[in-house]
Amino acid sequence: MTLPSLKIRKTHIPVPIIQGGMGLGLSNYTLAGAVGREGGLGVLSSAALDRIVSERHGRKLKALEAAAQDVRDAKELARGGAIGMNIMVAVINQYEDSVLGSMDGGVDVIISGAGLPLALPEIAKLHPRADDVALVPIVSSGRATEIIFKRWSRSGRLPDALVVEGPLAGGHIAWKKIEEALDPANKLENLLQEVFEVTKKWNHPIPVIAAGGIYSHEDIQNAIARGCAGVQMGTRFLATFESGANEEYKRMLVECREEDVELASRPGSPCGMLFRVLKQSPFYQQALKREREPKCDKGYLLNKGFCPSKYENEKTFCICNGLLASINLNPKEKELYTVGHMVYRIDRIMSVHELMSELQGLPVSAEAGSEPVLSSKVSASSKVPSSVTPSVNPKRDSKEVNPN
Ligand SMILES: Cc1cc2nc3c(=O)[nH]c(=O)nc-3n(C[C@H](O)[C@H](O)[C@H](O)COP(=O)(O)O)c2cc1C
Repeated sequence: MTLPSLKIRKTHIPVPIIQGGMGLGLSNYTLAGAVGREGGLGVLSSAALDRIVSERHGRKLKALEAAAQDVRDAKELARGGAIGMNIMVAVINQYEDSVLGSMDGGVDVIISGAGLPLALPEIAKLHPRADDVALVPIVSSGRATEIIFKRWSRSGRLPDALVVEGPLAGGHIAWKKIEEALDPANKLENLLQEVFEVTKKWNHPIPVIAAGGIYSHEDIQNAIARGCAGVQMGTRFLATFESGANEEYKRMLVECREEDVELASRPGSPCGMLFRVLKQSPFYQQALKREREPKCDKGYLLNKGFCPSKYENEKTFCICNGLLASINLNPKEKELYTVGHMVYRIDRIMSVHELMSELQGLPVSAEAGSEPVLSSKVSASSKVPSSVTPSVNPKRDSKEVNPN
């Protein structure tokens, strides 16, 4: 089946695949640019861009300028393809600057979750491009959708699409307790039903995008058969040459097994939501043994305005430091690998071109089949990420497929 194209507000996306935002620096401009170029929606992550883009361009940029620059860099690689920015509500100190900076840079779509993006339309309204940029909340229940619709309706603007993220997703998931994440009532297909009911009730038929555990072309077909307009995928794109994950991270993606994937809760993420990790991540191992002294000198992720991991290491661990180490930007700290549940099915690292062909059920063309799209087309001052070499496949024949 040929996949239908996707339209979100004014943005035409020829292939209905959104590459999910992955912070910090994992969904970088090389990844998002390559996805946009292949006809999907390539999505950057605004988290820590002040640090990441400043390092890449060799000059100090604040959050607003860094977001604009990252969008411009990705757009250059995308060659006319669509680029989005994922902005986490939990990164509260930089939220407004990230929204306005992305809009300055020419972003097509803003996707916002990790909390309820209640203020997003009001902030977007401050920008002259407000009418051109699509605003897309990430939700995990009908209830959250209803709250967002009610609040946004007061600003005279309802969401342009919704990403519905289920419990198999990578990064943070919406639930606080493991039993809730495993409860069959919270399976993605049930959440989609709840959300469809809300869009129907409001008579607002927008694209609904399924996320969390989507792995194959068949999974995409199934989502579309259920009434979704497209999918958002993270883990498959993490395992590409173009993503910002470092060599060791990519090696672990290829080698891991299902039993290596864990929902971190105690200690867990300072923002209080479950956080999916590879058990063997050196930073997580250190956190489990309470070996790392409480410290957070980065301060991106805040819970009610402060980061508990600055003061204690019993209930939480500092994810900013571990995540920055995983993109080679924090040599003094150990690495923290976040993944989606389906990571155990990854058997090799491939190019975005090959992945996008596979996901569309197409043969891979010889043109750019295994060549990573690199940053050489971006301005000379930009640095190329180091982790673009292929990882081998030690478990290719041994992987069983277990969709739930
Ligand atoms: C490594 C990784 C990091 C992620 N970081 C973020 C993030 O910073 N913000 C966010 O809203 N979602 C984040 N996500 C969620 C993805 O955008 C996407 O919705 C999700 O991964 C889809 O599930 P999948 O991994 O099973 O495809 C992350 C996912 C992964 C795998």
